[in-house]
This record gives sequence, structure tokens and C-alpha cells, in this order.
Amino acid sequence: MSLTRPRALARLLAAALPALLAMTPLQAQEQPLEPTGEWTAYSQGQAQLPPMGWNSWNAFYLDIDEEKVMANARIIVDSGLAKAGYRYINIDDGWWLKRDTQTGRMVVRTTTFPSAALPDGSTSLRPFTDRVHAMGLKAGIYTDIGRNSCGQTFGHGSPNNPVGTLAEREIGLYGHVDQDIGLYFGEWGFDYIKVDGCGIRGMGADNPNVANGTYREFAPLIDFDSLTATDIPAVQALFGEVGAALFRHNPDGDFLFSICIWGSADVRSWASRYGNISRTSEDIGPYWGRMLHNLDSAARRPLYAQPGSWNDPDMLFVGTGDFDAAHLTEARSHFSLWAMINAPLIIGYDLRKATPELMAILGNRDVIALNQDPGGHQAALTYDSDEVQVYLKTLANGDKAVAVFNRSDRPLEAVLTAQQMKYDPAAPVTLTDLWSGEASSFTGEQRFGLAAHETRLFRSKGTRELPEGHYLSELPGLIHPAVDGVVRPEPDPSIHRAVVHWSGTRGNGERPRYAGWGGAQADASPHLQVLRIANREYASGIGVLANSRLEVRSEGYRRFRAEVGVDDSALNKDQQVRFELYGDGKLLARSEWMRFGEAARALQADLGSTRLLELVVRTAEPTDTPVPVTWGKAALLR
Ligand code: GLA
Repeated sequence: MSLTRPRALARLLAAALPALLAMTPLQAQEQPLEPTGEWTAYSQGQAQLPPMGWNSWNAFYLDIDEEKVMANARIIVDSGLAKAGYRYINIDDGWWLKRDTQTGRMVVRTTTFPSAALPDGSTSLRPFTDRVHAMGLKAGIYTDIGRNSCGQTFGHGSPNNPVGTLAEREIGLYGHVDQDIGLYFGEWGFDYIKVDGCGIRGMGADNPNVANGTYREFAPLIDFDSLTATDIPAVQALFGEVGAALFRHNPDGDFLFSICIWGSADVRSWASRYGNISRTSEDIGPYWGRMLHNLDSAARRPLYAQPGSWNDPDMLFVGTGDFDAAHLTEARSHFSLWAMINAPLIIGYDLRKATPELMAILGNRDVIALNQDPGGHQAALTYDSDEVQVYLKTLANGDKAVAVFNRSDRPLEAVLTAQQMKYDPAAPVTLTDLWSGEASSFTGEQRFGLAAHETRLFRSKGTRELPEGHYLSELPGLIHPAVDGVVRPEPDPSIHRAVVHWSGTRGNGERPRYAGWGGAQADASPHLQVLRIANREYASGIGVLANSRLEVRSEGYRRFRAEVGVDDSALNKDQQVRFELYGDGKLLARSEWMRFGEAARALQADLGSTRLLELVVRTAEPTDTPVPVTWGKAALLR
């Protein structure tokens, strides 16, 4: 074809244009189901594994100072916790004095952080980070995305809240992103930042300290009780700006970006593209019920965690209250569960008070190894109830970790089956108890007596039900739900609702919150029903809404296989759906258009050297009523 002929040129352009456009972010936004051939989860920063470290908040709240922080850092090194993996020493709210309104530069409170006082009268946290780095550790800092901090928004009256004029007390990032990030990372040498969101949540005209002129009004972008009243794109834009600044000011990429907006603003659906860890709920407390609340906010979201971006159910409370030295069963459960769901392991305790038993919990290398397993697979629930839960986690060496958890406050008997572990029920399963070290084995099923609040935690070996590969639901760390089909985000009703400790039983109680209900699930439908296509149940599979696109890393596997169809839980029975499988952006296989009640169809493809699969499901017509679909027995085979 001669390119001198205008028609031929136009035809060539017309043919090439869609491919060119497919590369632009705009098109990706407008046509979210189009395959990109790319893994789009956050890949900046240092979070291939969940971060481990220590943070001042749960131990000291706003009553923080350099001596307390350094004493804890020292213990982390001397006790061997650093060798076990804890490396971030993070200061939370309360470190600041004010913003210098002439230069915009943040001023450190030198009465509590004396090393920050420099001979020329200025302040810097560089001496602090130097000391932390000299101990072989890394340092983390805390700020807020708005103009003011959480301490200012909710914790009025603390001696460690910023001082000075109204403008001097505006210590948050808002309007200062580049300057502050440059200071914290470029000049002061921090490695980790937690960015809170109170300044864009609680500084409305109804805040008494806004009403009395103490703080400037910030029309809230986040309405915690209403997603429709929340300006999600504006919130995303602010966090995106921080991410860009972190990238700019950290040429070595040595940073970790912690998003802290507590599951609001639909963050559970977008955090994996914006930061390394993201809080899935409001603050944890040293109470059993509150631990359950925070656990639940992340536990049913294994597909939303992958190397580089993890669910954050908040910091550990091992050592305090219901998890103190007199409650070691509870402390072990809390730690076991955080390890299993790949939560950041951030100690929130004054280690100067720790008993040897508490140190042994925090330092249990076998348990830590589950959290830090290079596979990066968050445990999925293989048995779920309000009383007993069984969590199952695939480990990189082929072992499986299993946690049998008694949520209730009475002793219970639990039965663990080989099938729940996706093992052959006729072959022996060996178990190593990671708290007692005891080894045992069983065939078929095993009974356990569980004390109140007890977790039995094991590493196991067995004969895999699928010896030639893995079910996708066993590999959540390889999956990124780029588009999960949720168009109208709804609060998640599956979360334990405890009495909130900061308000007690005042108000109208803990209502379902945190959008994400109906998202992608491992071994369950989007609304947590059993996976079922035309009356046939699937114990293994991925449940998701139609009009979704899941990215799956498939390197090392040779074949993909699934049985697909509309899930029997669908209320929308009229829509036809089609399943498509792409490899590195190219169509590998697709199903016929399928209807509710139709038997599952096989969908398979050879993968060759494919690195990235995309699992796309479309509805024939645009629809407002979600259509749950099932990728039954979806598997990657060697
Ligand atoms: C919020 C966060 C907490 C802590 C406090 C500090 O509540 O969720 O983790 O950082 O602010 O004020």
C-alpha cells in the first residue's frame, strides 16, 4: 500500500488509532474494560511485602517525644525484633510546633524533639532520622492531607497540638504538598509517610473550633456517613498529588506511602492505584470487638491486596487492654490474624513495658514469615461464620498456612477439613502449630478444641486437590481487580460492629460503612454467597460483577482454565454476559453470550509466554443492576 495515497493513509491511521488511543489514561478511564496489557496496581515505593515497624500512636497518642521513640527503637534493635523484620520507626501525630508563615517551612517542637534544635535557631528532624538510620532502621513521619491534623480536628486541648496564629497552626499538606514532601524526604531523609485525612473530613463549619475561629473552615470533601456527599475525585486528586511529589523527591524510590482515610471515599476500590498501604476502617482500639471490626474490614478483601499495595486494618494493639500480658490468647490471635491477612505489622506498644511473653509474640519468626512470605497472598476465608472462621493462605514454597479462629467468648469445637484447605481428602495433611511448635497430621478432617478467642495457627503440607497448578482464588497476590464492576458503591455490611470506644453508646450506633460491598471475592460471590452456576456449586473460583476487568500475573504458568457463567445469586436475570480472556492485551478466548440459568461453559487458553492475563466480563447492554458472574474453578496450570 502506498502511503502517498491519502485514502490509504487515512485507512492506516484509522486502523492504528484505536491501539494508540488504548494507551492513553483518558481512554483507559472512558473504556475501563479495554485490556491494557499492563499491571496497573501501584508499583512505586517499597512495599513488595507488607511493611513492619513501630508507630507511636497506639502507645502514646499525642503525648509523644523523642526519648520515647528512641527508647523503643533501641529495644527493637537490642531485642532482635529488627532482625525479625521490624524496621520502620514511625512518629505519628504531635511532632510539630507550627508552620513558619514567612517561609512555609514546618517547625519541629524542640521541647519534645530536642535534637531538632539546630545551632542557627532553625529546626530539622534530620538528626532524628540520622540516629534512626545509624541503627539500621528506617524512619517514618506523619501528616494530614488537609490544612489541619486529626489531633486538631478531634483531640483538642492536647499540649502537643500546633501553636501560634491560625495560619501557623495549618500544618497539613494542603497547599504545601511539594514543599513539605521535599522537606520530609529530600532534606530530613524520611522513608515512610502516613497521610491522614481529618483536615478534609472534620473541619466543616459545624466543628466547634471552626465556629469559634480557632481553625479555618475547610468544606469537607469526605462525608463519613455519605458517599454521595463525598467528593471522591477531589480526594483522589489530593492523594495523587502526594504520590507524584513522593516520586519526584525520592529519586531512589525509597519511600512508603500510607493512605489513612479509614475506608471512606470509596478508597477501598482505588487505593491499590494510589499508594502502598491504605486503611480499610476507622481506628482500632485495645478491645476485642474493635479488633474484630478492623479485621473484618480487610479480611474479606484478599483480592484487593497485592505486592506494592496492601489492605491496612490499622496498627497492632498487642500489649494493651484486651491484648495485654494477662490476655496472651487474645494477643496471639490478633497477631496471627494480622500476619495471615498481610496487614502491615506495625507495633503500637511501649516496648519498655513489654513482658518476655509479649516480646515472644511480636517476635515469633514463624508467624512473621507468613506475613512476609514472598508469594504476597493475603489469606482468604475458607470457612466463615460469626463464631469460627478458617483462613487459608498459599505460601511461596507450596505450603499452606491455616488459621482456625474462635471469634466468640466461649470455648468451641471446630473441625478443619482437608477440602477446606484445597487438599486431597484421602491423603494425609501434616500440620505444624506455629505457637506451640507441635507437629501432627490427619486425613480427611481434624477436630480442635478452641479456647475463647483462641486462634490455632499452622503451616501445613498436603496433596493439592489441583496438583498441576493453582486455583486463582489461591493466588490473590497475583490478581489486581482493575475494574470490579461496582458502579454504585455501597457500605459493607459484613463487618463486626463494635461499640466505638471514643463515643461509647452515645449517638445512633455503628452503622455499616466503608464502600466495597459487592466487590471481587475469592471462593464466594460478590455478596458472599456460595458460587453457583445453574445449580452447580463451585468451592473454588472468583466471584465478581459483570463489567469487570481483573489483571492476573501469569508468568510461569502454561494454561488457563475456567468454567464460567452468570452466578445463581443474580437478581438481574435478563442481561446476557460474555467472558473474555486476554493475554498481554490480545484476545485469547471468549465465551458465547450467556444468560442466567445457562450451564457453565469452559473457557481455556494456552498461555505461551504470556505475562499478564486480563479476565473481562461484559454485559450485552449497559445496566444499572449488577450481574454477579462466576469464574468457576478458574486456574493457572503449569
Ligand atoms: C487518626 C488516625 C490514627 C492516628 C490519629 C492521630 O485518627 O486514624 O491512626 O494517626 O489520627 O491523630
